[in-house]
Amino acid sequence: MYNLLKGKRGIIFGALDENSIAWKTAERVHEEGGIFVLTNAPASIRMGSIDALAVKTNSQIIPADATSVEDLENLIDKAIEILGGKIDFVLHSIGMSVNVRKGNHYTNQNYDYTEKGWNVSAVSFHKVMQVLYKKEAMNEWGSIVALTYMASQRVFPDYNDMADNKAFLESIARSFGYFFGKDKKVRVNTISQSPTPTKAGHGVKGFGEFIAYSDAMAPLGNATALDCATYTVAMFSDLTKRVTLQNLYNDGGFSNMGVSQEVLERF
Ligand SMILES: NC(=O)c1ccc[n+]([C@@H]2O[C@H](COP(=O)([O-])OP(=O)(O)OC[C@H]3O[C@@H](n4cnc5c(N)ncnc54)[C@H](O)[C@@H]3O)[C@@H](O)[C@H]2O)c1
Repeated sequence: MYNLLKGKRGIIFGALDENSIAWKTAERVHEEGGIFVLTNAPASIRMGSIDALAVKTNSQIIPADATSVEDLENLIDKAIEILGGKIDFVLHSIGMSVNVRKGNHYTNQNYDYTEKGWNVSAVSFHKVMQVLYKKEAMNEWGSIVALTYMASQRVFPDYNDMADNKAFLESIARSFGYFFGKDKKVRVNTISQSPTPTKAGHGVKGFGEFIAYSDAMAPLGNATALDCATYTVAMFSDLTKRVTLQNLYNDGGFSNMGVSQEVLERF
């Protein structure tokens, strides 16, 4: 390990269980010397196993529903108090579609579910940043990362309304990233990750085929949750100080492929 995050303080959203990308990220950040608070929605804290991660990484858990500005204000105040100073890094690792959960086809959405989905998966990122921004909670040269998926840019029919939520999320990263860069010298990026076997990942219909196809297309194969965690560490470190407003692919090269020999041979 390189102590890349020594002296840095952060907030990590979205560690549900040991498969979560946020879980691996917390472990890697801890190994690199960063300190942080963990947060998740109260129901996910009860359902999941975040306590074990808190013990392992010597961190505290502050519950927050990321769609509640009040919860986020409390979270950020407490995080600064617990960590003993302003924030250097934030990971938004949150996604959920009620239409996907209920098996509603893209052409047959329940719009109450649609609204809930974009609020949790995209607008929550705006809310997190707006609270950080208004509270002057970020240190200069801090780094904010959210996780996204390629279906925001290309059609993957079974990704359903999460595709639209991810497009919204990526746009928020650019738009807020402008103001965070200009006004506070903070960078904002999204990492577009390969399909990964997590609770959220398995929610996508036909996930088994989806992940195998992606692996067969990508010259380096799918990026794992650990690969994503390591990339995120790099994005939190001072090695990437002027990388901002980017959607960064961590996908083994999938995003620039048309077809691979391996996939062709299956026809
Ligand atoms: N798994 C994949 O294939 C894949 C691929 C690309 C991007 N992503 C993205 O990575 C991120 C993390 O997902 P994951 O795959 O680790 O799955 P995960 O199920 O482990 O994590 C999703 C998290 O979102 C949290 N969450 C849901 N509603 C919330 C709310 N209202 N407030 C706060 N937190 C809430 C859940 O509690 C959970 O911890 C998501 O943004 C997901 O879309 C996942």
